[in-house]
Amino acid sequence: MKKPILLSATVLCAFAAQAMLDDDEALSAAREALSRLTLREKTMLLAGSGTMTLAPVPGAATDREWTMSDSSSTVRASLERWGWSYVEPQEENTKLPSLSALAQTWDVEWARKHGEVLGAECRDRGVDQLLGPGVNIMRTPLCGRNWEYLGEDPVLAAKLCVPFIKGVQSYDVAATVKHFCLNNQELARGSVDTHVDDRTLNEIYLPAFRAAVKEAGVLAIMTSYNKIDGVWASENKYTQKGILRDRWGFKGFVVTDWGGQHTTAFAAMNGGGVEMHRGDRIRRIYNPKTGACPLAEAVERGEVPVSTVDEMALRTLFAMAKTGFLTGAKRKRGERNTPEHQRIAREEGAESIVLLKNDRGLLPLDAKAMKKVLVVGMLADEKQCRKGGSAEGNTPYEVTLFAALTNRLPHAEVKLMPFCAKTVHAETDATNATEAGAHVEMKTEEAYCSEDELHAAAMAADTLVVFTGTELGVQENMESEGRDRVEFDLPSQLQKAMHTILDWRHPRTIVISRSGTPVGYTWTDKADALLKTSYLGMEEGNAICDVLFGDVNPCGKLAQTWPRRYEDTAVAQCGTYNATNITYNERFYVGYRWHDKSGIVPLFPFGHGLGYTTFNMELEGIDGGRGGEPFTLRVAVENTGSRRGKEVVQVYAAYPDAKVERCAKELKAFAKVDLAPGETKTAKLSISLRDLAYWDEFNHSFRTDAGEYEVLIGASSADIRCKARVKVDDTRFFAD
Ligand code: BGC
Repeated sequence: MKKPILLSATVLCAFAAQAMLDDDEALSAAREALSRLTLREKTMLLAGSGTMTLAPVPGAATDREWTMSDSSSTVRASLERWGWSYVEPQEENTKLPSLSALAQTWDVEWARKHGEVLGAECRDRGVDQLLGPGVNIMRTPLCGRNWEYLGEDPVLAAKLCVPFIKGVQSYDVAATVKHFCLNNQELARGSVDTHVDDRTLNEIYLPAFRAAVKEAGVLAIMTSYNKIDGVWASENKYTQKGILRDRWGFKGFVVTDWGGQHTTAFAAMNGGGVEMHRGDRIRRIYNPKTGACPLAEAVERGEVPVSTVDEMALRTLFAMAKTGFLTGAKRKRGERNTPEHQRIAREEGAESIVLLKNDRGLLPLDAKAMKKVLVVGMLADEKQCRKGGSAEGNTPYEVTLFAALTNRLPHAEVKLMPFCAKTVHAETDATNATEAGAHVEMKTEEAYCSEDELHAAAMAADTLVVFTGTELGVQENMESEGRDRVEFDLPSQLQKAMHTILDWRHPRTIVISRSGTPVGYTWTDKADALLKTSYLGMEEGNAICDVLFGDVNPCGKLAQTWPRRYEDTAVAQCGTYNATNITYNERFYVGYRWHDKSGIVPLFPFGHGLGYTTFNMELEGIDGGRGGEPFTLRVAVENTGSRRGKEVVQVYAAYPDAKVERCAKELKAFAKVDLAPGETKTAKLSISLRDLAYWDEFNHSFRTDAGEYEVLIGASSADIRCKARVKVDDTRFFAD
C-alpha cells in the first residue's frame, strides 16, 4: 500500500510555489521523510537500484526512481537497468563542447550557459542528477580523460565549475562534481595508489572541489577509483570526513564511481555514501525482492550504528528535497535540442578555439577567393560525439569540419584526402579498459594515399586545410576513459607527413589541430597558421568555420601548457607516472608552475591565444587591500586593431617576499573584455587575501604572510604586460 505523503498540506503548498528550497527547508523536509523510513528503506537510498537509478522513496511526492545520467557536455542516452547498453528508443540530446574546450573560453558566462543547457536537457529527459562536471587537474598530457576536465590550473577550474554547477542546479537538477580525488590519470585508475603532500593537495588538487562545495553548493560529489595513501577514495576518512564534511561543511551526498566501493561497513564508517554498480552486484547490494542488503545487515550485526545510516540517508534526501523530487515542489521545466541550445553549442565552441599562430596573417580566410580547397586528414569528416566512454552522447546531428566547409563554399570545389602516411593503431580491448595497462592489440590502419598524389592535389588547390590531432576512441594515441594515451607524440608517420606537407610551402596552408590534451608536435615552426581546437560537439565544423572565416574573432586561450616534448613535463622529469604506486614528487609544480621552475620553455605557454586584432593592457590603479579587504585591480584594455574582438586579462601573483617555497607565479583572476576597434574599457579584477595564501602544513590552514606581493597582468602566462606591488600588513590564517 502506498504510504501517505510525508509533508503537511501547508508545507507542501508553500514548497509547490517555489523552485529550489533553501537549505534549512530542504533539511527539515529531508528529516521528516527520514523519520518515516525503516532501516531497509533508508539503505535503499544508499545503493543503486539499477545502473543509473535509486529506488523510489516510500512516501515521497513521486513514485519515480531517482535517475542519474552522465556527463559534462551532454545528457547521455538511457542505459539498461543492469548494464551499459543503451535502451531503445535512444534519446537524442545536444552535445556541447567538451570541458577541455569550455576551459579554453576562460569565460564564466559560457560555463553558466553550458550548465543551464545541461540542466534544461536533464529536466526534459526526467534526469534528476547529472554526473558532471569533472574537475580533475591535468597533471600529465597522457591522461585519457583530460578532454573531460577543465585544464591544469586550480583557479581556472574552480572559477569555471562554479557557474557550471549553478547553471545545472538552477534547473532543479543535482550536479555531481567528480572524481574526488587525485584521479589524474586513467592508467590503472581502478587500482593505483596515490600519495601527495598536504600542501600540494590543498593548493592544486582540491580548490575546484572546494569551490564546487562552498561556492556553488553542489548537491553531489563522486569519489574516484584510485587509492589515496593506501585507502580507496570511496572509503577514505581523511578526504571524505576530514575535508569534505568537517572542513567544507558539504551538505549533499557522496556517490561512488561505478564499482569503486570495495567494502560495506568500513565505507559507511568512513564517510561513504551511495554505492553505485552495475549488473549482479546491484542485486546483491540492494535487492527489494530477497531483502538482501549488506549495509542493513552490517547495522544488524552492530558494525554500523543506525545513526550513521541516518546521516548518510539524510544527505540523499537533502539533495532530493533541494531539487523538488522529494517534496513535489514545482520544478523548472526543461527543454532539449532547441535551436537556442544548438546556437550555444556553436558559439561556445567558436569562443573556445585558440589561434596559436597566424604568422603571415593568413587567417581569416576570404571565402570569395577560394575556388579549390583541399582538406587533408580523414578526421576532418569523422564524427566524435558518440565516442569517449561515459561522456559520449547521442546527437540529432553532427557537423564535421569537412561538411561545414563544403556548406560554406557552395561555389568552390572542396575535396577531402587522407595523409600521405600509413598510420597503424593498436587497439585496446575496451572490455578491460579499467584494468591496469590491459592492452589487447588489434591493429588497424588508416586510409592513406601516396605522396605524389597528395602533392598534385595540394598544388592544384588554392587553399590547403590540414586537420590533425587526436580522436576519441580506444586505440593507442586516442583519448578515452579507462586508459591513457600511450605516447605523447602524434604517430611518427603522421608527424613525417606533416613535415612533408608543410615543406611544400603551399602559400595558403592552414593547420587545425584537435585534441583534448597537449600532443607532441615537431612541425609547428613550419606552420604559418595554426588553430588549436578541442572536441566541440555537434556544431564542431560550424564553430571552426566561424573562426576560419572571421565571423568570430578567436579569443580562446590555452588552459594547459603545451610542452615541446614529453620529456619536458614534470611527471616525466620527476618519474612520477606509473600504474601502481605514485607519489606526486613534483609537488605543486604542475603545468606552467613546473616550466617556470625548471626553466624549460614550452612550445606554447599556458594562457596563450591570439586573435585577428591586437590589444593594449595598462594597469590604471589598485583599490582596497586595507583591513583585510580584497585588492581591486583596474586594468584598461584597448583594442588597437581594426576588428571587434575579445581579450582575456590574466592576473598572476608572484611572491618576492616569500618566507616559504612558492611558485614563480600563479593565476589568481581573469576577465574577458569585448571591444570594438579603437575602444578602451576598464576591467576590474579582484584578489582577496586568501587568494594569496599558501597551505601551512604546520597550522593546517591557509596562510597569507605579511609582506609585499607582486601582481602580474598579461595576455598569457608568458606575456606579462604590466606589474605592480601590493602590501599585506598582517599575517592572516584562513581555516579553510
Ligand atoms: C566514470 C564516471 C561515470 C560513471 C557512470 C565511470 O566509469 O568514471 O565518470 O560518471 O562511470 O557512467
